[in-house]
Amino acid sequence: MCGIVGYIGDRKAFPILVNGLKRLEYRGYDSSGVALAQDGEIAVYKKQGMVVAMEEHALANNTSGSTGIAHTRWATHGQPSDENAHPHVSNSGNLVLVHNGIIENYQSLKDLLKGKGYTFHSETDTEVLVNFIEYVQKEEGCKLRKAVRLALTQVIGAYAVCIYDKNRPEEIVVAKLGSPLVIGLGVNEKFVGSDATPFLEYTKDAIYLEDGEMACLTAEGEVSIRMIESDVSVDPTIHALQMDLESIEKGGYDYFMMKEIYEQPRAIYDTFRGRLLPEQGMIKMSGLEEYADKFRNADRIIMTACGTSWHSALVAEYLFEEFARIPVEVEYGSEFRYRNPIIRKNDIVIAISQSGETADTLAAIKMAKAAGAMVFGICNVPGSTISRETHAGAYTHAGPEIGVASTKAFTSQVTVLTMMALELGKIRGEFSTSEYRALINELSVIPKKVEKVLESKEHIEKISGLYKDASNALYLGRGVNFPIALEGALKLKEISYIHAEGYPAAEMKHGPIALIDENMPVVVVAPNNGHYEKLVSNVQEVKAREGKVIAIVTEGDTEVINSADHVIEIPETLEALTPLLTVIPLQLLSYYIAVMRGCDVDRPRNLAKSVTVE
Ligand code: AGP
Repeated sequence: MCGIVGYIGDRKAFPILVNGLKRLEYRGYDSSGVALAQDGEIAVYKKQGMVVAMEEHALANNTSGSTGIAHTRWATHGQPSDENAHPHVSNSGNLVLVHNGIIENYQSLKDLLKGKGYTFHSETDTEVLVNFIEYVQKEEGCKLRKAVRLALTQVIGAYAVCIYDKNRPEEIVVAKLGSPLVIGLGVNEKFVGSDATPFLEYTKDAIYLEDGEMACLTAEGEVSIRMIESDVSVDPTIHALQMDLESIEKGGYDYFMMKEIYEQPRAIYDTFRGRLLPEQGMIKMSGLEEYADKFRNADRIIMTACGTSWHSALVAEYLFEEFARIPVEVEYGSEFRYRNPIIRKNDIVIAISQSGETADTLAAIKMAKAAGAMVFGICNVPGSTISRETHAGAYTHAGPEIGVASTKAFTSQVTVLTMMALELGKIRGEFSTSEYRALINELSVIPKKVEKVLESKEHIEKISGLYKDASNALYLGRGVNFPIALEGALKLKEISYIHAEGYPAAEMKHGPIALIDENMPVVVVAPNNGHYEKLVSNVQEVKAREGKVIAIVTEGDTEVINSADHVIEIPETLEALTPLLTVIPLQLLSYYIAVMRGCDVDRPRNLAKSVTVE
């Protein structure tokens, strides 16, 4: 996600644009920039880092002008850098554009433009778009609005764009498909934002552009909206905004955590987009391909992480050993860094971190590199320390995760690790093409199946109400869902402050079963594949001791349902992919219990989103 802001009116644009960007930093914060219309020229100030870095840079220069566009970036194409920051200017210097989204066919457009003599100064798809619009404008000899419309009919992907022509700074053109864009209607001024937070104090009247619409904005004039494809005029619906700043940033959810739980279908899709290619029956991961020989010849993989990221490493241990037949060890960063481990030259270390800044994981990486290991990073924040410290890596594309309790980053990590396990299995010739394709095809429909699980939220909320006053809880799972039991317990602990423990279900008889009584809720992750019959027995063991069982089952379950107190269904899927579905009800269960207990879900006591100290 990125944030875009635009202004055209009778005020100085710069402070409005910068304050607007600061309100949108939750959408991305690896770099930012503004473009200001100044005496027939375009002044562009852009910097890597938080908005305040760009602001300082710009304030040292000329920030006049009452037309401007601005952007805060969450890198997709091209590392965070000054060059890749938006806005982007066309080759002629006439057009300047900011963009939130992904242009899927940017490479073919770039090749076409290069053939026409266009040059590029960044790695972004956005710079291709602004030059393609310029190319169309020159070819058609038309004004900006028509050039934007014609160009976008040839673009594949998602976008929310703001663009203006330095020769006509009295007009900003905006367009939307797949990414949000809202127009603020002031008196003799117009605003643009990815949401309404950039202009809420100036006006409460807003137009939410719909997909496939574009608009021309002038300071005084009416907003003229048209369909991009058909050029048919559209009568705008003007909304009187009621929400406050914070609720808009949360997209109408009460907490960022819930917003991020519901972003998971999109986050998983964005994480495998361009990498998982079911039509071609293949997976393309550049970071992996670059080190294919290293992985092919690896004797062992050591995964190191902390917290929830450590749980995704545990899921990966099952998948890597199952599909790639590579021995895997999973280490807490904090333990690995100090225990003087034996690391051999054919070992590969995979470090997993949402923030890319966790001190213990970072220290473990440095120790592993010093021992001569190749270190592969899986991070969610482009340009983070860990992403720069590792030899290679793969980003999750979950977008900024604000809630302290990790949700969409976890399922995105598991998505990357699942693709890696499949690809390494193929590289090492460890399993049949038909099995490989079956897994790829099933992974490609997981976002839809996550949406199905999310439909159970009311049912889960009711169950939560029955157990919100519990003092303890146990979470049980087997095989690839044992780490999910750990993750569910961590979620409950960290946001509701209820003590919870995760166990391999078979471990119950080695001690924990002594804890079971009528006050102990026991969550059992029991999908219909992998150890199902044993889990049916585990549920009966708990019930025989009066425990209360909340079971996560595959829809249509016929056995667990006979003894569990509550069942929450997930759609049928392949065993290896069940963690991406079974974790969702556990996230929701912890969320609702925490809310019912009056906890600050997004900012739990004693916790920080990124633990950058020991
Ligand atoms: C998970 O919900 C917690 N917020 C915490 O355990 C977190 O996973 C851990 O601190 C690791 O953070 P990282 O992924 O940013 O390295």
